Amino acid sequence: MNLGVIGAGYVGLTTGICLSSLGHKITVYDLVDEKLKSLSEKKLPFYEKDLQELLDKTISSQNLIPTSNIDEMIKNTQGCFICVGTPSKQNNSIDLSQVLNSIKLIAEHLKQLQKKDYIIMIRSTIVPSSTNSHILPMLDKILDRSSYGLCLVPEFLREGEAVSDFMNPDKIVIGSINENSKNFAKKIFESFDQATILTTNPETAEMIKYANNAFFSMLISFSNEIANIAEKTTGIDTFEVLQALVEDKRITTKINNQKIKPGLESYLLPGCGFGGSCFPKDVRAILQYAATKNINTPLLNAVMEINDERPSLVVSLAQNLLTSLKNKHITILGLTFKPDTDDIRSSPSFEAIKLLNDRNAKIFAYDPNLSKNISKNKFANFTLCSTLESSLENSDLVILFTKWDDFKNLNQDILNKYMNSPLLIDGRGFLDSSKFNDNVYHKIGFTK
Ligand SMILES: NC(=O)c1ccc[n+]([C@@H]2O[C@H](COP(=O)([O-])OP(=O)(O)OC[C@H]3O[C@@H](n4cnc5c(N)ncnc54)[C@H](O)[C@@H]3O)[C@@H](O)[C@H]2O)c1
Repeated sequence: MNLGVIGAGYVGLTTGICLSSLGHKITVYDLVDEKLKSLSEKKLPFYEKDLQELLDKTISSQNLIPTSNIDEMIKNTQGCFICVGTPSKQNNSIDLSQVLNSIKLIAEHLKQLQKKDYIIMIRSTIVPSSTNSHILPMLDKILDRSSYGLCLVPEFLREGEAVSDFMNPDKIVIGSINENSKNFAKKIFESFDQATILTTNPETAEMIKYANNAFFSMLISFSNEIANIAEKTTGIDTFEVLQALVEDKRITTKINNQKIKPGLESYLLPGCGFGGSCFPKDVRAILQYAATKNINTPLLNAVMEINDERPSLVVSLAQNLLTSLKNKHITILGLTFKPDTDDIRSSPSFEAIKLLNDRNAKIFAYDPNLSKNISKNKFANFTLCSTLESSLENSDLVILFTKWDDFKNLNQDILNKYMNSPLLIDGRGFLDSSKFNDNVYHKIGFTK
């Protein structure tokens, strides 16, 4: 099919590149010319595992066409995905302006071109009733309802696993305003035959995406609250507690004596908290939406409250270990909110760095992705080091924030070689504690 994508970000490019690799002809439009230029030169404007290789192929085969000309995109396509950002406003409510600007742009050009039966598919995350209260009224002002179709096709990918998540979806949600729009979206995804296709109305589709993100955020905050309680008793290991929970047959299914571990296992872990461009923003947006409806939301309020506290708890542990943080050399390992991405939006490491700065610590950070480009990635309140070793030199304390594989080999010998007096906080319970002296290794969720 000939399809358009508006927004060359994580979601837009994953959608566009993956669909073009499956044989669809995709035209990508973005406001930022640099991104389009970079795509034409086969350079992905951000890092996402496996996506660069697919980009090479799809640009070469001309199945992916970047353009800054919206007319060209609309003329050449039967429908398009809107994949622009939906950031938080000051009051945490959702900022729909990028979506509404895209809708207006498409509507005006469809009108000019007198194009009929064009299907607009919204992939951005938007709060319930956005379609009915804002998007449809805007379209109806410019176009006759019979000349366009609209559906919500929310994206569930995880950064770092975006290609695999897109190519192997467990569900495709299509919330459409009419049969035509539904059938159009179904046709695009019909080759994903292992996925459940859920067809519904736009408002249910909007809510499904928020329920999804709120649920996984809740599991993380649940784990962290259990850790907070466990840490008050010497010797309780929260990781073991939660592993035992996962073994429960209501969570881990047994088929023919084979245990099937659920994916939610990776959310039942204590740590420095969730970050990224989705969980914090989306939980806050749905809370704000609920507030406008006068709905009491104690559970989701607590999810955010518990999460917001995580970086400061890590810093308190650092303070306890070093007594004072003043002029102490602290090494931060991992700046991205998770491994295998370059996304630092709402990353817990940055919140912790702010708090460490307030206590006059000297901060040196290493991130396997950001450190590759030291000249581009400049930060005002800490030094980004080019190697792991240089970040450890003369350090008083290392704090691991991100589970990059590159950190897996850390051990006592490496710390001894570079640090003043080795001390480490494993903020994710990721390292093998047996590779460190007992008085050196400390982890979140376990008090010795
Ligand atoms: N990143 C994720 O992991 C993820 C996962 C699922 C859903 N989502 C949702 O998908 C949406 C997009 O997220 P993202 O992370 O890809 O955002 P992003 O910030 O990486 O990309 C958005 C892109 O849209 C472009 N843009 C903005 N306004 C435009 C306009 N009027 N016309 C053309 N281009 C425009 C920007 O230049 C940018 O390239 C958000 O609603 C987000 O909540 C994100």
